[in-house]
Amino acid sequence: MGGRTLLVTGGTGGLGSATARLCASRGAQVVIADLDADAGTALAKDIRADGGEAAFVRTDVTDEAQVKAMVAFAVDTFGGLHGAFNNAGIDNGHKTILEADLAHWQQNLAVNLTGVFLCLKYEIEHMIATGTSGAIVNTSSTAGAVGCANAVAYISAKHGVVGLTRSTAVDYSAKGIRVNAVLPGAVNTPMLEGALEDKAFAEMVARSHPIGRVGQAPEVAETVAWLLSDAAAFVTGACVSVDGGFTTQ
Ligand SMILES: NC(=O)c1ccc[n+]([C@@H]2O[C@H](COP(=O)([O-])OP(=O)(O)OC[C@H]3O[C@@H](n4cnc5c(N)ncnc54)[C@H](O)[C@@H]3O)[C@@H](O)[C@H]2O)c1
Repeated sequence: MGGRTLLVTGGTGGLGSATARLCASRGAQVVIADLDADAGTALAKDIRADGGEAAFVRTDVTDEAQVKAMVAFAVDTFGGLHGAFNNAGIDNGHKTILEADLAHWQQNLAVNLTGVFLCLKYEIEHMIATGTSGAIVNTSSTAGAVGCANAVAYISAKHGVVGLTRSTAVDYSAKGIRVNAVLPGAVNTPMLEGALEDKAFAEMVARSHPIGRVGQAPEVAETVAWLLSDAAAFVTGACVSVDGGFTTQ
C-alpha cells in the first residue's frame, strides 16, 4: 500500500479506525473522514505518532458538497486518491415497515445508502479523470444478504450497497477501478457494544454465528486491506462475507 492514498469514511468508528490503522501500518497515506472531529483529529495524530501518514477531514457523507470536498482534501493533502473504504453507517433503531415512518426510513437510507452513492460517485470521478487505477470497498452487512426481523430500513439500505457495489464494478472494472463490498456479521464496535452489554442478548448473538462468537474489528480490517491491495487484483464486484458463518446457515 506504500505511496497510495486511501479514504476511510466512518473512519473514527470501530471498523473504520481498525482499517485506517492497519492500512497506515502497511504504508498507505490515510484520510480519515467522519462526523466526529475530536476523535478524527486524535486518531490521525495517533497514527502519525506510530510513524504512519494520516489526516482528518470532517465530513457528513449525506452532504454532496462535503463529499466532494472530502475527495478534494485527500487529493490536495497527499497528491492523489487510490482507494477508499466507504464505511460510514448508522443503526437508527429497529422497526418493521408498519413501525417505520418516512423520517426513520430516509435517515437510514441517507447515511447507509446515499452516503455510499455519493462517495463512490466522487471517488470514481476523480480516478477516471486522472487515469488512476483504484480499489474501493463498501461496507454492507449480513443485512445485505439476508433479511432479519424489525430492520426494514437497515436491511434495505445494506442490500442497496450490494447493488451499488455490483453495478459500479461492472461499469468501471475495465477502466482499472475495482469495487467490492464486505458483509460483516456482528462485530464488537461502538455500534453494537451497548446492546452486547445485555448478557443474554450477547450470548444469543454469539450462538447465531456458527463460529460461536461475535467478530472483532481487526478481523474485518484484514479483509478490507486485502481487497484494497494488489493481492486482490482479480477480485471485483465481490460481496465478501466476514461473518463467522452467519449467512451460510
Ligand atoms: N458492528 C457491526 O456489527 C456491523 C455489522 C455489519 C455492518 N456494520 C457496518 O459497518 C460500518 C461501520 O460501523 P461500526 O460497527 O464501525 O460502527 P461505529 O458506530 O463504530 O462507526 C460508524 C462511524 O460512522 C460515522 N458516521 C455516522 N454517520 C455519519 C455521516 N453521516 N457521515 C460521516 N460519518 C458518519 C460515525 O461517527 C462512526 O464513527 C457501518 O456501515 C455499519 O452499518 C457493522
